[in-house]
Amino acid sequence: MKNKFIVFEGIDGSGKSTQCSLLYSYIASKDIPVKLLAEPTSGIYGQQIRKMLQSETPVSVDEQIRLFIEDRQQDFDLNIKPCMEHGQTIVMDRYFYSNAAYQGSSIISPEDIIGKNIERGFPLPDRVYYIDIEPAEAMRRITARSASGKTELFEKKTFLEGVRKNFLHMADNRFLKIDGSASQDEIFNIIKNDYLVLIG
Ligand code: ADP
Ligand code: TYD
Repeated sequence: MKNKFIVFEGIDGSGKSTQCSLLYSYIASKDIPVKLLAEPTSGIYGQQIRKMLQSETPVSVDEQIRLFIEDRQQDFDLNIKPCMEHGQTIVMDRYFYSNAAYQGSSIISPEDIIGKNIERGFPLPDRVYYIDIEPAEAMRRITARSASGKTELFEKKTFLEGVRKNFLHMADNRFLKIDGSASQDEIFNIIKNDYLVLIG
């Protein structure tokens, strides 16, 4: 079976979106049916999340978890499930590991947040490409890409250090950890070679 559920994870500015597009185009060029998805989505919960990310007054972590899970439920019902039923490959920019890494803390652990997502029936991906990068480098890229110089709620170096620790801690054998300081081509070569092994 060539249809795979592939997820990209990493802190903001790690280069996920760039690699998602490259892998999506590569798979499409092989005439394998493939869909590019991203969370947060542009649905009603995704729009609330975008507002929250721009706002100066953050909502509680419980409310953040609720919003991201409701957004994921919509994504599952509208996109993920139909793709799986039609045998399409999914290339996805963020999934529930982001929920665990960004909303996880000593108050509610990343493992408990993954548990909440699994309880909802969200399927495990076949592969997670985790792009690992120093928060200082990520912040340089984020500031360079933002026209206004403004950053979002989670785009703070100290916060991203905690998020990175959470990602590194939760990485199991589904994860392929890739050094995000390498060039776009070098990173994509690693991903492409791994993907070719994955589809056999
Ligand atoms: P993310 O989706 O993880 O936030 P992006 O793919 O949007 O990251 O990349 C963030 C910024 O860094 C963009 O301006 C992008 O062009 C640049 N970038 C992406 N990959 C690399 C890389 N390997 N080396 C240097 N800059 C990169
Ligand atoms: P995204 O648009 O992917 O940000 P970027 O392109 O900068 O990496 O995601 C927006 C923000 O949402 C990002 O800071 C990570 C956060 N997020 C969570 O906190 N929890 C989640 O469950 C998801 C999917 C994203």
